Amino acid sequence: MKEDLLYLKEEALHEIEKSKDLRELNNIRIKYLGKKGKLTTILRGMANLSPEERPAIGKLANEVKEELEQKFFQKGLELKEIAKKIRLQKEKIDVTVPSKVILGHKHPLTLVLDEIKEIFLGLGYEVVEGPEVELDYYNFEALNIPKDHPARDMQDTFYITEEILLRTHTSPVQIRTMEKKKPPIKVIVPGRVYRSDEVDATHSPVFHQVEGLVVGEKVTMADLKGTLITFAKMFYGKERRVRFRPSYFPFTEPSAEMDISCIACDGKGCRVCSYTGWLEILGCGMVHPNVLKNCGYDPEEVTGFAFGMGIERIAMLKYGINDMRLFFENDLRFLEQF
Ligand code: PHE
Repeated sequence: MKEDLLYLKEEALHEIEKSKDLRELNNIRIKYLGKKGKLTTILRGMANLSPEERPAIGKLANEVKEELEQKFFQKGLELKEIAKKIRLQKEKIDVTVPSKVILGHKHPLTLVLDEIKEIFLGLGYEVVEGPEVELDYYNFEALNIPKDHPARDMQDTFYITEEILLRTHTSPVQIRTMEKKKPPIKVIVPGRVYRSDEVDATHSPVFHQVEGLVVGEKVTMADLKGTLITFAKMFYGKERRVRFRPSYFPFTEPSAEMDISCIACDGKGCRVCSYTGWLEILGCGMVHPNVLKNCGYDPEEVTGFAFGMGIERIAMLKYGINDMRLFFENDLRFLEQF
């Protein structure tokens, strides 16, 4: 039995020395020291020993066990250190590498925006942009939101001076576009917008919207619905159901919000859709006659529709992302998934 124990020790030490990772090491430990391991099997044989032999063998068995434990521990430390080095090596980024090839991934917000643009370009729209630092006039006044209008409370605004602010939505570009162009107008407006919100899983003081504006002769609510249903089906899939709910925006009349059947549960009701079966994806409506007048248009001659959607929200729904902060933290482990 003594030979058995010594042989087992040598054999185990040899295997420990050769092991290449923590999993292998753990398997070796189980093989030798586990409940059904080799050491236990040998010790079972102690029952057949004479009482004189027993203490010496018992002592040896304990020594072997202790020595092996010690070795397992040391080797474990070594392997952990090696694993850490390998991981650090893998995650190392050489920021000095010249970018001959285009490295990296498109940001999920860019991916979503590209796809939205692609759809509307296909429908004959033009992409335009406007300033992020905006006049009160364009952000509120011309959009039928006068100074004392309660709708101003809906948006907590970053003011730079009394008349200059960071735009709270992309709608001011509706006005800027109508001032510059004559109908027919068909534009989408992507861009950054700002609201004085605390950062949390669904809010950020900076986020992105895409605005849409169509103005022309005899543009109707049917055009609005047809366009937005087409968009929803192209973007979210033909099987999505769509509904419009009456809503309120000072710059559209009538106004609506568009919902799609929940992507996660297909309308059955789940956490994602707060058990309603529906997800709100945009605000829309017929351009208010006052807004048309503010741009020098005659509401008797031309009409229009507009819509606006938040890109972060749309990307979160599309990719199943549950925290908006991920978009702005630039953690490679997140970005590399796209
Ligand atoms: N500007 C609105 C918002 O930020 C969205 C909207 C745009 C609604 C155009 C109607 C028409 O909430």
